[in-house]
Amino acid sequence: MTQPPKHLELTQVDIDFPTPNGPFKALQDVNLTINKGEFVSLIGHSGCGKSTVLNIVAGLYQATKGGCLLDGKEVNAPGPERAVVFQNHSLLPWLTAYENVELAVKQVFGKTKSKSEMREWIEHNLSLVHMDHAMDKRPDEISGGMKQRVGIARALAMEPTVMLMDEPFGALDALTRAHLQDSLMEIQKDLNNTVIMITHDVDEAVLLSDRIVMMTNGPAASVGEILNIDLPRPRDRLALADDPTYNHYRHEVLKFLYEKQRTPDSPKTEDKEKNEDVAQDVQVIKSKSEEKAA
Ligand SMILES: Nc1ncnc2c1ncn2[C@@H]1O[C@H](COP(=O)(O)OP(=O)(O)OP(=O)(O)O)[C@@H](O)[C@H]1O
Ligand SMILES: [Mg+2]
Repeated sequence: MTQPPKHLELTQVDIDFPTPNGPFKALQDVNLTINKGEFVSLIGHSGCGKSTVLNIVAGLYQATKGGCLLDGKEVNAPGPERAVVFQNHSLLPWLTAYENVELAVKQVFGKTKSKSEMREWIEHNLSLVHMDHAMDKRPDEISGGMKQRVGIARALAMEPTVMLMDEPFGALDALTRAHLQDSLMEIQKDLNNTVIMITHDVDEAVLLSDRIVMMTNGPAASVGEILNIDLPRPRDRLALADDPTYNHYRHEVLKFLYEKQRTPDSPKTEDKEKNEDVAQDVQVIKSKSEEKAA
């Protein structure tokens, strides 16, 4: 009997970028299988090749060797079933926030939703990311974090089979970030879509993921280790802060990054944990004072 196709499969992927000094091998032998509805985070040092992996799944880059299959079909071009939230928010500058989302919604729902249903849907998604007050502003009239939120609304509004998110919450303040992380967990539970998210934030990776894929340093980067995050859902960030299993996972990721894949300028794990604890404390104090001010 033939096996049903895997949902998303990267097999023996290499990519060589042409450079003036000859080809640069960014990825070598990347293998990864992802199940339908799984939430996978990619983590690794800057420049290791995380965005490149995402761009291959998005169909924006073509692997030099090996390839990517989605539900048994080869990925070789972008498609609306794979929505991307780009690392450097990519909105069309001549369109308002509303129109940027509308463009994607028309592409996906143009034949199935009426005009008023589409309007409601666009507004709903912009309000999810707290951008309903600035719907009619153009990208050059809003901040970087706000542009990022419009990009997230645009991707969510497409109800894609696969969401590809490149550091989606990196430019946001702590409260907005926490709110959007929670919304994303809820939306993903309802829609059962597959998410691949790149992050530099260890807590974000552990809180959101079913698996964390840790990449080795480049050039010729590959999958180093994969950590299964076996924490029950729904997950509550406050309850998890004192959970020993949660902290064990967190430590495993830090160990991978700051011991096993240490770069000359990266701190040791204990120093990094101390720094992260300080950063966390600062964030909690900041959130509390922001809550008081609101
Ligand atoms: N189009 C390109 N042409 C040439 N080299 C490229 C290209 N895209 C990426 N690279 C190189 O491939 C490597 C991986 O880049 P990539 O953007 O995937 O890293 P990353 O892990 O996403 O980094 P960061 O965390 O800083 O975003 C880097 O050395 C980068 O310079
Ligand atoms: Mg990147």
